[in-house]
Amino acid sequence: MTLDIAQLGQPVLREVATDVTPDQISSTEFQHFIDDMIETMHESKGVGLAAPQVFSTKRLFIAKILPSPDAPGKPVAGVFINPRLSELSEEKETGWEGCLSFLELLVVVPRHRSLLLSYQNRHGHPHQLRLAGFPARVVQHEYDHLDGILTIDRAITTKNIIKASEIDDAKEYL
Ligand code: NI
Repeated sequence: MTLDIAQLGQPVLREVATDVTPDQISSTEFQHFIDDMIETMHESKGVGLAAPQVFSTKRLFIAKILPSPDAPGKPVAGVFINPRLSELSEEKETGWEGCLSFLELLVVVPRHRSLLLSYQNRHGHPHQLRLAGFPARVVQHEYDHLDGILTIDRAITTKNIIKASEIDDAKEYL
């Protein structure tokens, strides 16, 4: 079942999400919710989706960043519950980011180039992933959603917020 995606202005996008308990993770309801989030992300052609974007204040997000076992270079969706970011590189990179909660806009956002992501998978098992470049950017974007932070808050100047349709003519301001 696909879920409604909260659009910019919905208060849920500004709430700080809360950790998921082991009992919640193993519940049938939560497992269905994860499947619905994955389906919703695929349906809307996004690379990531955080729970607050589908009106849930739980700390989890879905992101297409895991290496595919049979098609190298074609990442598959991973489920990241109670994520923690550490070992954030001092070096940052800027890049244009879209968001399923406001598809009309693109924003230049500076992000740490690399990081260590610690999380629980959908079975509640702890895992760690060292990420750099685009996957690290996706994870920082989705993690921000869990703290009620959006790309527009990260723009160094509001000149870096544009209509997605104008990207070919847009400039990045620092
Ligand atoms: Ni987003």
